[in-house]
Amino acid sequence: MPHPMFRPRRLREKALVRSLVRETRLSVDDFIYPMFIVHGRGVRAPIGAMPGQARLSVDEMVKEAKDVAGLGIPGVLLFGLPAEKDPRGSEAYAEDGIVQQAVRAIKDTVPDLLVLTDVCLCEYTSHGHCGVVEDGTVKNDPTLELLTRTAVSHAEAGADMVAPSDMMDGRVGAIREGLDDAGFAETPIMAYSAKYASVFYGPFREAADSTPQFGDRRAYQMDPANVVEAMREIALDVDEGADIVMVKPALPYLDVIARAKAEFGMPLAAYSVSGEYAMIRAAGQLGWLDERRAMMEALLSIRRAGADIVITYFAREAARALERGGEG
Ligand code: PBG
Repeated sequence: MPHPMFRPRRLREKALVRSLVRETRLSVDDFIYPMFIVHGRGVRAPIGAMPGQARLSVDEMVKEAKDVAGLGIPGVLLFGLPAEKDPRGSEAYAEDGIVQQAVRAIKDTVPDLLVLTDVCLCEYTSHGHCGVVEDGTVKNDPTLELLTRTAVSHAEAGADMVAPSDMMDGRVGAIREGLDDAGFAETPIMAYSAKYASVFYGPFREAADSTPQFGDRRAYQMDPANVVEAMREIALDVDEGADIVMVKPALPYLDVIARAKAEFGMPLAAYSVSGEYAMIRAAGQLGWLDERRAMMEALLSIRRAGADIVITYFAREAARALERGGEG
């Protein structure tokens, strides 16, 4: 129907009408908040390129976890920085490793908060790669055993869900088998299925001290140019038993999110990574963007593209904005 019979603006004039016909809504129920845990007590070390984020010792993290739960955010995703790094990343799967301690502490004090753990070796290895290095390359199959041990140790500590982010082939199947054998058949796996070799992880690598000491991650993370391959990666993870699949980063890969949702209909997470956070923060600090509105629009776009779950460093601020009743 041509103008003037159909006037789309009729539904845009009044805020209440706009709200009635709004197709996507942001909800605190969809957020997961990432945190970085370090050894020590009373530690709150700000992360330079992620203003508002800090590395926290377990005691400080518990305080923050209470605040997160109080805001109605359903869960946190934990990353750990070990006391010492070594070539095989031993603290990743140590019973008293930093993440294992953090999981227990949250489960003791904030039992209603979901605890998800990132399963990877890069924060723990002296070379900074996500797997075992032999002859200058990251070896896939020897890494699977270490990842499985890591995931099982997180489940033993009480993790509600494990999230492998290493991009080794076959790791979801290996972890599923390991969890089942250890009596954790009920623990879900959220797989970082389509994880790209992205420059947007820059600030995270400062936060997690996980920059590769040689080379880069392009031999295991995905080429940013590929989307059909992302669908193959997701299909593999689903076959191997992933319960939730993930696309990462989020904003530069909204097409991948939309396609993954359409093709698989699986519960889908999107990780809005450190660089996405840093860009909006930086422009906000410079006065070049309205930071709060940019944050809300970016998060909404990720949901509109098809993500059910949004992992974001903005979770607490967005939760507060939603509490005040702002859609944006
Ligand atoms: C670990 C891991 C990374 C991120 C999440 N898990 C870094 C990387 O792969 O180099 C990035 C998260 C972010 O940038 O916010 N492999």
